[in-house]
This record gives sequence, C-alpha cells and structure tokens, in this order.
Amino acid sequence: MKIAVLGAGSIGSTLAGAFAAHGHDVALANSRGPETIADLAASLGARATTAEEAVRSVEVVVTSIPLNRLQSLRPVLAAVPADVPVVDTANYYPQRDGRIAALDAGQLEAHWIGEQLGRPVARAWNAVLAGTLAERGVPAGTPGRIAIPVAGDDPDARRIAATLTDITGFDAYDIGGLDNTWRIQPGNPAYCTDLTRDALEAALARGDAAIAPTRRDLVMAVFATWDGNVTGSEILALNRAITRVA
Ligand SMILES: NC(=O)c1ccc[n+]([C@@H]2O[C@H](COP(=O)([O-])OP(=O)(O)OC[C@H]3O[C@@H](n4cnc5c(N)ncnc54)[C@H](OP(=O)(O)O)[C@@H]3O)[C@@H](O)[C@H]2O)c1
Repeated sequence: MKIAVLGAGSIGSTLAGAFAAHGHDVALANSRGPETIADLAASLGARATTAEEAVRSVEVVVTSIPLNRLQSLRPVLAAVPADVPVVDTANYYPQRDGRIAALDAGQLEAHWIGEQLGRPVARAWNAVLAGTLAERGVPAGTPGRIAIPVAGDDPDARRIAATLTDITGFDAYDIGGLDNTWRIQPGNPAYCTDLTRDALEAALARGDAAIAPTRRDLVMAVFATWDGNVTGSEILALNRAITRVA
C-alpha cells in the first residue's frame, strides 16, 4: 500500500518503520521540512517529503501530530479523495495542548479531530504508549500479544486500521464506531495500559467517561511533581494504578 505518515515523532516514526518493514511504500512528513528528517526516513526505509507531496495518490493517511496542531493539516487533506482512510493517533491533554472548550465540555476527541481535519477519521495507536509501540510488538499469534483498540464509522477504514495495527506487532481490537471512543480516551482503563485482548475487553467494559478526565489530569499532576524525565514504564505503572488495572 502507499501510505502517508504525517508526523515524524515518537509514534509516527515507529509506525513508518513498521509499515516500510512490511513492504509498504511510506512517505513521512513533519512540519519543518523533509531535509530535517532525511536521515531518519532513510533509516526507517521511508521517503522524507512534504505533507502535500506525501498524500498524493496515497491509499491511506496516518496523522500523528500534536492534537492542537491538527487543523494545520486540513488544507493538506482537502486534496485527498474522500474514500482514502485517515487514521489519527492524537489525544487531548489540556496541560500540553491548552484548554479546548468543546473537549472540556465532553465532545469526543475523535469527533473534534475530524472537525479539525475536515473529514471523519478512524482511530488507532492513540491508546498505546510510544515505548510500547516501539519495543513490545510481536508477530500475530505470540502468547501475551498486546491489543490496541481501533475505531471508526467506516468499516473499510476500520479494517485497514486493524490490518496496519497488526503489522505494527499488536492485536487490533475493533471497538466499532467513533461513538464508542470515549472508552479509549486518556484516564480510562483501556488507555495505554498494555493489555492482552481478553484483559482489554474487560478494561473497555470498565470505562467511565465522567471520571476519566479527572484521572487523566491526576496522572499529569503527579508527573509535574517529579524531577527529571518520566520513563515509559513509570507512565504505564501510573496509568494502570489510577485506573485499577491489575
Ligand atoms: N508519545 C506517546 O506515548 C503517544 C501515545 C499515543 C498517542 N500519542 C499521540 O500521537 C501524536 C504524536 O505523538 P508523538 O509523541 O509522536 O509526538 P512528537 O514526538 O512530539 O512528534 C510530533 C510530530 O508531529 C510533527 N508535526 C507537527 N505539526 C505538523 C504538521 N502540521 N505537519 C506535519 N507534521 C507535523 C512534528 O514535526 P516538527 O518537529 O517538524 O514540528 C513531529 O514530527 C500526538 O497527538 C499524541 O497525543 C502519543
């Protein structure tokens, strides 16, 4: 498949590398220009290019940039045919993204993201930590394989998101349409807690839309009291503790 990955940070670069390793034609773009990611892209087996060029004649687009910058991709995606799936990875953290009134009022992140991009999105990899994505992927069928939720209103887009999730080394757990995505937003038990398929199913059932933002903000408040860099395993441990994932 011809895949555009917009965003070359922790998540985007790992995805680009996994797609390229499976023989896909991957164009990778950031905001500062292809020359700033030429070496990175080459090391991943991808092509560094502009976002505009990346989406030309593409079969799927993955957007993986900070939530509060998504609107900048709207003109880029306007040139992409409506039947090309766009899969987004973003999450809302007000401490990082600034307060967004609609999200604070309870609008689903997936719907808000679609409004910013000017088209509906599918969701994948938003509920997995960058370290897990980079280091814990294993081939399908491996016992203990971690599962990642995928969602989307278009069944074809959801199926493609699931196929790509499998390529990255994780079981895809289809949670259906975007109206269900409150279960995979920050502060819920299914969000970035590294669970196998069965455990993820149980965690999804324990989602709580009313409490999740409080838990999300508590995690960030704890990190703000810590000195130095927070590690992936510390984030995972806190996510699990605060949502009571065993
Ligand atoms: N990190 C995690 O553990 C994690 C887990 C799940 C989901 N997510 C979500 O995934 C997204 C990416 O996270 P990340 O940790 O990979 O972020 P990151 O490391 O900060 O990287 C962000 C990337 O987005 C690029 N970018 C920004 N604006 C752009 C634009 N208009 N066009 C093209 N590229 C643009 C940046 O390029 P420049 O540097 O050139 O600006 C950079 O390559 C975020 O929405 C985040 O919430 C992150």
